[in-house]
Amino acid sequence: MSTINTTKTNLFLDIALFLAFVLAMVPHATGIPVHEWLSLAFAATIVVHLLLHWEWIVGVTPKFFARLFHESRLNFVIDVVFFLALIMAMVSGFLISKAALPAIGIQPAFSIVWRQAHRISAEVALITLGIHCGMHIKWIAQNAKRTLIGPVVRLFRKQPVAERAAGGKK
Ligand code: HEM
Repeated sequence: MSTINTTKTNLFLDIALFLAFVLAMVPHATGIPVHEWLSLAFAATIVVHLLLHWEWIVGVTPKFFARLFHESRLNFVIDVVFFLALIMAMVSGFLISKAALPAIGIQPAFSIVWRQAHRISAEVALITLGIHCGMHIKWIAQNAKRTLIGPVVRLFRKQPVAERAAGGKK
């Protein structure tokens, strides 16, 4: 796969993940069944996201203790906290499930502790996702400009008459 196609795949997948997470954060707007199934699809897509960034993960992990501070290390810490918070949100979500588990015949008992754990882990995930996006803002802005905004701007850009007559060629 060429670099530009990999970048495009990453960008579209990341946008889908971001939107799915935002929707997962508002279960009372989507309804609990949509919340639960969407979160499960989100978890599966996170696995694809991790596989697409596997080289980075494998590259940074051994270097983690090599230097006291560098940007990748901070990225790594944020990503680990984000990942753990997501796992906690998924596990506690299952333990309070009102739709997905009952659909396969399992009815979890109501637990205020797991409900609180679910809310807190989701909030920690939201905060760390914000930092994660902030730390990759340069990549997001560059590729959004090239892949999404660029083609739309080109569609509406006025072509000189001579260029149009030559079928868009200079
Ligand atoms: C990315 C993963 C997830 C995130 C970010 C997330 C986020 C949230 C948030 C913010 C709430 C509102 C909490 C409150 O107002 O107290 C909530 C409620 C809920 N979530 Fe999740 N959730 C996720 C995954 C799941 C999963 C996988 C399930 C079940 C299979 C689930 C089941 C529920 C249920 C049943 C509620 C309603 C709790 C209640 O009102 O009693 N969630 N979730």
